[in-house]
Amino acid sequence: MRYKIRTLLLLVLVPVWIFVSNVVVPYGTSQIIGKLSSGDFEINNYIGLLLLTIIPAAINNLAVIRAIDWLDWSIDALGGEYLSRLAFVAVINQSMTFHNNKFSGSLTSAANKLPGAFIDLKSNFVWDLYPLFLTALYSIITAAVICPPFAAILTIYTIVYMVVAIVTYYKTRNVDEKLADAENKQTGQLADAITNEMSIKSYARESIEKVRFGNATKRTKEATFNVAKVSFWRNLSMNAINMVTFTGLLILIVMSHDWFGLTIANMVFLYSLSNSLLSNVWTINHILRAINRAFGNAKEMVTILDLPLIIDDKTDKPLKITKAEIDISHISFQHQEQKQKLFDNFDLKVPAGKSVGLVGISGSGKTTLTKLLLRFDDVLSGAIYIDGQDIRDITQRSLRESIAYVPQESSLFHRSIYENIAYGKPEATRDEVIRAAKLANADSFIRELPDGYETLVGERGVKLSGGQRQRVAIARAILKNAPILILDEATSALDSESEALIQGALVNLMKGRTSIVVAHRLSTIAGLDEIVVLKNGQIVERGSHQELLGAGGEYAKLWSRQSGAFIKEK
Ligand SMILES: Nc1ncnc2c1ncn2[C@@H]1O[C@H](COP(=O)(O)OP(=O)(O)O)[C@@H](O)[C@H]1O
Ligand SMILES: [Mg+2]
Repeated sequence: MRYKIRTLLLLVLVPVWIFVSNVVVPYGTSQIIGKLSSGDFEINNYIGLLLLTIIPAAINNLAVIRAIDWLDWSIDALGGEYLSRLAFVAVINQSMTFHNNKFSGSLTSAANKLPGAFIDLKSNFVWDLYPLFLTALYSIITAAVICPPFAAILTIYTIVYMVVAIVTYYKTRNVDEKLADAENKQTGQLADAITNEMSIKSYARESIEKVRFGNATKRTKEATFNVAKVSFWRNLSMNAINMVTFTGLLILIVMSHDWFGLTIANMVFLYSLSNSLLSNVWTINHILRAINRAFGNAKEMVTILDLPLIIDDKTDKPLKITKAEIDISHISFQHQEQKQKLFDNFDLKVPAGKSVGLVGISGSGKTTLTKLLLRFDDVLSGAIYIDGQDIRDITQRSLRESIAYVPQESSLFHRSIYENIAYGKPEATRDEVIRAAKLANADSFIRELPDGYETLVGERGVKLSGGQRQRVAIARAILKNAPILILDEATSALDSESEALIQGALVNLMKGRTSIVVAHRLSTIAGLDEIVVLKNGQIVERGSHQELLGAGGEYAKLWSRQSGAFIKEK
């Protein structure tokens, strides 16, 4: 366990605190009352007793409890930091498939709840559970010294109370769980609505969303009332046990002079001991609930922490690029939750330094293929080799360092444009960043933004147009200067004019690099070394632009349709 010394100190200091506040101070007070009841009102006779009571109380409040408080906070700070980072790394390291299947909102909250649950659990132990245990222990032992029958009642009371509390708690836990579940669903709806604000607004569906959210809050409200009902009956029975015990103890105290020859001082002392026990035992309900809640809150993130990484580095061997030849060899692949294999015994070689264009209707598997190259998923059979090395046998980091990838939908960080471009090469100089932006035809629009390169782009880059985002993403890839280039519809959001402007940059970029270019607009790929036409995960045609036009197949059809469109445009 981490923070050993702090924890040990807590384990020692809490017993001191409870001993002083529940035994020493009540003892001193009871002695004073005992003396008073004997008719001695001479202040000088009380100085010793007063000091014996006040000094421990002062040390307790001014030093011991303050030290416990400080240790408690410092463990919060240290443990909170450690667990937040742990959760962050665990989430970041998960595969793309994992992320595709999760709501980012619920992942965020799971990661946030982990440190919170730790802090709750620990505070609960320090301030409630451990003090409760010590109070019971001290009260019973001290009472046993003074008057064993009294201690017997306290023991029986504590056991009965705990058993009833724990049994009823387990019986009623499901209402608590239902409440937590309702609250989670409500949060989920809130997050879903906020992320889809654009759809809500553009379809003017605010009222429908209000009703949906209203249903969620209604379920939370009902669940809260259920918890309240259950708590009401449980607390009523607990109160009844307390009343019976209190009555018994009070009668015992009144009779104790006759029965056991107790002094007034000891009667008062016993009363104090039982009073602190009775009021402390009450916290058990709160303790059990808090513990359950904390475990519930931590559960999701703990499951994620335990999850084996689907895409894991088998070795720490880095990829060694010699020529950057890509060999996709007899692979098959099936998306999760899809009925059929997308690729079955698929083969494609991209010779070193050559460029291949991928075309095909939407859904034919182009994006999936590029993602497999980046090892966002593993193939079911067959293998992908880069310079003869199976990409599963090298580190993901070295693989992805060697590939500049512009995805179909590039999202940007809510950071400055400069930082977003420099992401491709964090150690780049300002000149390099600006040069990359110029090559991507992004420099001029960036300079017109209010803060130029320092402009913040909004969450996921929403403050830029689709085409501007793409140009920033292309600049980032240009800056990365990797031996392999993968462009997945990287220019799809650009108008023909902007595209033509960066076409030259892309051609330059591809020189000497092994490139795979997915494009919808065939003019983008007409000049590439080879064009591959995909259909349902299979290659239906391949060859150079001229060859494919000559063959008069799918490609030729697509081409005539598109160039026809261009003629009309003019
Ligand atoms: N994460 C995913 N989970 C399940 N199926 C997917 C996933 N991504 C893509 N698919 C499916 O795989 C097929 C190929 O998709 P994709 O590779 O994106 O095609 P393209 O890029 O050629 O339009 C489609 O039928 C699509 O529905
Ligand atoms: Mg695609």
